[in-house]
Amino acid sequence: MRLDRFLANLPHCSHRQARLLLASGRASVNGHIIRDGTHDVRIFDRVELDGERLQAGKPARFFMLNKPPGYVSATADPQHPTVLDLLDEPEKEELHIAGRLDSNTTGLLIITNDGLWSRRLTQPESLLGKTYLVETDALIDPTCVDHFAQGLYFRYENLTTLPAELVLLGSHQARLTLRQGRYHQVKRMFGRFNNKVISLHRERMGPLTLDAGLAPGEYRALTPAEIAQI
Ligand code: URA
Repeated sequence: MRLDRFLANLPHCSHRQARLLLASGRASVNGHIIRDGTHDVRIFDRVELDGERLQAGKPARFFMLNKPPGYVSATADPQHPTVLDLLDEPEKEELHIAGRLDSNTTGLLIITNDGLWSRRLTQPESLLGKTYLVETDALIDPTCVDHFAQGLYFRYENLTTLPAELVLLGSHQARLTLRQGRYHQVKRMFGRFNNKVISLHRERMGPLTLDAGLAPGEYRALTPAEIAQI
């Protein structure tokens, strides 16, 4: 983004004020005063105004983790281990989880410091499919395929779930793809048919598939190609 637009995006800063700030030499990029509004600001750049940091200029970081059961999808928890405990990375406090999983749910978890990118991955409008392997306590009623495709009414949120694709893999096993992520959605959908989910594993989020080479608890950085897909 051009530096003048970057500054004009600040609260209470008009385009005219941005030009004045630049002309008076109050903005710097990576320690150099920049007066040229067309200067390209990248995510890696440190941008300061009157010495105050507007953008830290750290590289964006993206990881996929094969979440084991028993870890909470939080950055800190007073009682339980968190998924961040599984990462051997510096400055973990800058990272956040893009699409949480319940503590007993396993599988694909994305962790990043890039909020815009993670919003694209998780925002409902992007309608990216999230695929789960589900095991249930009781026999899966085959009519669930149609019911899930039509959507279920959730009274608490006063909404009908978006069409979801259920593929039966066995009497107690199925693959379910959702295009939204309401609280405990998979468990509540099966619960509607008096069936308890006993194992839930996320395999995919949009174009990102859990790397089969990652054992539970292991993680790796996303590749540039994976990052560019979102
Ligand atoms: N649905 C659930 O019920 N739990 C999860 O962790 C994810 C989706």
